[in-house]
Order: sequence, then C-alpha cells, then structure tokens
Amino acid sequence: MTIKYESQKIAQHFYTFAVLLFLVQVLVGIIAAIQFIKPDVFILNFNIIRSLHINALVVWLLVGFMGVTYYVISDESDTELWSLPLAKFQFWATVVTITLVVLGYIWMGISPQANSPINGINPLNEGREYIEAPRWADYLIVVSVLLFLLNCFMTVLKTKKWTGIQGVLLGGLVFLALMYLPGLFYTKSMVKDQFWWWWVVHLWVEGSWEIIAGALLAFMLMKTTGAKREVLEKWMYIEVGLVLFTGILGTGHHYYWIGTPKYWLWVGGIFSSLEPIPLLLMVWDAFRTTREARNVTNRPGLFYTVAHAIFNFVGAGLWGIIHTLPQVNKWTHGTQVTTAHGHLAFYGAYVLLVISMIYVTLPSIRGVKEYNPSRAYLSFWWMTISMVFIVLTITGAGMVQTYMERLMGLDYVAVKTTYNLWFWILRAIFGVGFLIGVGIFVVDFFKLGKEPMPVVSPAPEKA
Ligand code: HEM
Ligand code: HEM
Ligand SMILES: [Fe+2]
Repeated sequence: MTIKYESQKIAQHFYTFAVLLFLVQVLVGIIAAIQFIKPDVFILNFNIIRSLHINALVVWLLVGFMGVTYYVISDESDTELWSLPLAKFQFWATVVTITLVVLGYIWMGISPQANSPINGINPLNEGREYIEAPRWADYLIVVSVLLFLLNCFMTVLKTKKWTGIQGVLLGGLVFLALMYLPGLFYTKSMVKDQFWWWWVVHLWVEGSWEIIAGALLAFMLMKTTGAKREVLEKWMYIEVGLVLFTGILGTGHHYYWIGTPKYWLWVGGIFSSLEPIPLLLMVWDAFRTTREARNVTNRPGLFYTVAHAIFNFVGAGLWGIIHTLPQVNKWTHGTQVTTAHGHLAFYGAYVLLVISMIYVTLPSIRGVKEYNPSRAYLSFWWMTISMVFIVLTITGAGMVQTYMERLMGLDYVAVKTTYNLWFWILRAIFGVGFLIGVGIFVVDFFKLGKEPMPVVSPAPEKA
C-alpha cells in the first residue's frame, strides 16, 4: 500500500490533532461522569467540563473529516492537491483557533466574569450547546473552511476528473459549511433561536455528515475490498438521496415542544421515523460488498468500516427511533434517554467513521504493506463493549428518570442524586474501560507501520 500523491500525506497532520482531541474529549467525559456523583470534584465546574467534552467531540470529528477529504480528493482526482502550502497553513490556523477557544473556556471556568459581554457579545463562550465557540472564533472557522473548500475544488478543477464519490463528498461538505451559518446569529426570541440552532445541530448530524459518511463508506469499501465503483456509487446515490428525503423534514422531531406550530408533530414524527431506512441500506451495502470481497489486504480497515455501518444504524437509527415519535418524546424529551442516544449515535456514526478512515488510509501514508493488526482489534473491543454498557446504563437511568420525574412528579435533583446514583457509578466505571480502549488506539496510531512485523503472521490468508 502506497499513496499515489505526496500531498495526501497532509491527512496525517489532521489525524494527529484529531486523535489528541479525542483523548481530551474522553478524559473530560470521565470527569463529567464523576461530577454526577461528586459535583465539586474538579477545579472546573460541570458546565465547563461538559462544553469541553462535546465541543472537543465535534471539533475532532470535523478536523478528521478535513484530513480524510484531502486524501480522498487527491486520490479521486488523480493529482496532487492544488496547494499543499495552503493546506498546511489551513491546518495550523485551525489548530491555533481551536486552542485559543479551549483556553477561553478554561479561563471562563476559572473566572466566569471574564465572559461578560463586550458590546453585547460574550467574548469567550456563546453558550449554545455544541457551538459555544465565540463570534471571533466563528469568523476564523469560516475563513479556514473556505480555504479548505477552495483547495479541494481547485484540485478537482485541475484535472476535471469528477467521480461520484468525490462529488457527493464535496456536496456534503458544502452543505455542512452552509449549515454553520444559521448558528452565527441569535435573536431575542427563544423559539426562533432554538429553531435555527437545530438547523446546525440536526442538519449536520442527520444531513450533511451522513452524506459524507455515505461517500466515505463507498470509498472505504472500494479500497478495502476492490469492489466495483459503479455498483458502490449506485447504492451511495440511493442512500444519500434517502438521507436527505427523511433527514431534512426529520428536523421536525426537535420542533415538538419549543413553541413552533402543531403540524411539526406530524411532519417530524413521520419523516424522522423513516430516517433509519438509509442507515439500514448502508449496513446491507457493507455486508454485500464484504461477502463478495476477494483478496482483502487491509483487514482492520474493512473491519472498522463494517462496524461503523452497523453502529451507525444501531446508535442513530434504533436508539433514535425509540424516542422520535411525539407520543414517546413527550415523556423522554431531554432525559438521559436522549443522552444515551447521543453517545451511541455519535460513536457509531462518526467516531467509528473517522477511525475507519484512519485505518484505511494511514498504512499507505506510512508506506507499509502489512502491519500488526492486534492493537486495532483490541482497542475496538475495549471501546465498543464499554460504549455499549455506558449506553445501556444511561438508557436505564433515563427510564427511571422518565418514570419518577414525569409520571410520579418527583423533582429533578432528587431523582438524579438518589434513585439514579448506581447508574452514575456504573457509567463512570465503563467510562474508564472506554478510556483504556482510546489509549490503545492512540498508541497504535502513533506506532502503526513504525515497528517490525511479528515473525509469525497471526492470520493466515484464506485461499
Ligand atoms: C448520526 C446521527 C445522529 C446523531 C449523531 C444524533 C445525535 C443526537 C444528539 C447528541 C442529541 C441530543 C441533542 C441535545 O443536546 O439536545 C439528539 C437528539 C435527538 N435525536 Fe439524534 N442523532 C442522530 C440521528 C438520529 C436519528 C436517525 C433519529 C431518529 C430516528 C434521532 C432522533 C433524535 C431525537 C428524537 C432527539 C431529541 C431527543 C429529545 O427530545 O430530548 N437522531 N440526537
Ligand atoms: C466517543 C465517545 C463519546 C461520545 C461520542 C460522547 C458524546 C457525548 C454527547 C453527544 C453528549 C451530550 C449528550 C446530550 O446532551 O444528550 C455527552 C455528554 C456527556 N458525556 Fe459523553 N461521549 C463519549 C464518551 C464519554 C465517556 C467515556 C464518558 C464517561 C463516562 C462520558 C460522559 C458524559 C457525560 C457525563 C455527559 C453529560 C451528560 C448529561 O449532561 O446528562 N462521555 N457525551
Ligand atoms: Fe435530530
């Protein structure tokens, strides 16, 4: 396995930053989990720790997508990137911006008055979940993304070689960039503010990001199994078409109780219930292609790809549909059931997607034909089993919470601190299991292709 073009190596810069942020995300996740049991356990309060946890998540996934895209665009266009120096500049500009934002959150955690408005604008943290980054950082992010897109499009224009995979990937990225814009403005009406905020959050993870996932799934299956591009692209079009058809109006599942008109109960309920269909097609696509595969050289790459397809369906599709009907959501809205779904969906759909792409592309970037896959599998099982138990635990906590708070009318704090205590203890324990998995992955990322292969090959090739 070797790369076709030298500039594809830039992907590795992005992977490194992403992997380090992943580690930070999970470390602060464990602090957050301990704070459920003992609230005053750390110098930074839960609100700051939680922001760090979910912002680090979103940012490392986006940084991962950027690295992945540079690799794929060059590969598919059959040319070097339009400008490698620009890509490097864009990388470092992103690192500096993100680091400043993180330092700002920590500063605000230590002295909250530091975030007092200047000319009506909060300088360190905007305070809307997932996109808390302040205004100045928003502008820098927009510039960085524009440079990134410019570089990608100019690369394609160089050879004018358009492939379906590349078109869908770039389309998904443009959609992603556009959907950042509604999050740049706020209004005094909470209803309107929430309305637009969901465009960013929902139309990212259930729109543009799933489109990117569809394109990358086709790319990864093609690379790891040698399957025919025409067949993979045909299914990709069907999958992303259905993602858009169900996902756009599926936004309605967030408009049930925020003051928007009643018809959203119908629109959201019906369209979001259909959202699992394209995700199921992706699983079928992955299995079908794998069954027909001959001569798989990068087994961990294929393994992670299939796992991503499965857990995308389970986390987003199944754990989504259980609470998406208004009749159910009326009770579970904003409880730990939501949190359980948030964890499994993000893990299955996007954490595993970026890690799959790393395993599919990193061996070629490092110029190795074969590598020892044992750590890749070990980290997968530690992470996945722990995540499944975290999710089962908080689904349980959510059911108790729904029953006691919403049916029996007990107050929030009583349920959280008394009846749910054992769930929090279990979550923290499984969280440590997850961290072990991430640790193994991070070690593997830095060592892959840099150590000699073991003398005895662990998996003999089947004829
Ligand atoms: C990969 C795709 C997905 C990701 C990453 C994801 C993630 C999330 C997250 C993090 C939240 C919580 C947002 C908050 O902080 O309030 C959420 C809420 C929700 N998700 Fe998803 N989701 C995905 C797909 C789906 C799908 C396909 C469905 C339906 C079939 C769904 C149904 C819901 C519902 C109904 C809520 C609102 C829960 C409430 O009312 O509290 N999600 N999702
Ligand atoms: C890749 C792994 C992880 C992903 C994708 C992830 C994702 C998320 C998301 C999306 C939220 C917001 C959920 C919502 O508001 O509904 C969240 C909150 C949280 N996460 Fe994680 N997380 C991960 C790992 C962990 C780990 C290992 C722990 C530690 C046990 C943890 C503990 C927490 C806690 C305590 C919260 C706050 C929950 C609340 O406000 O009720 N997370 N995480
Ligand atoms: Fe949604």
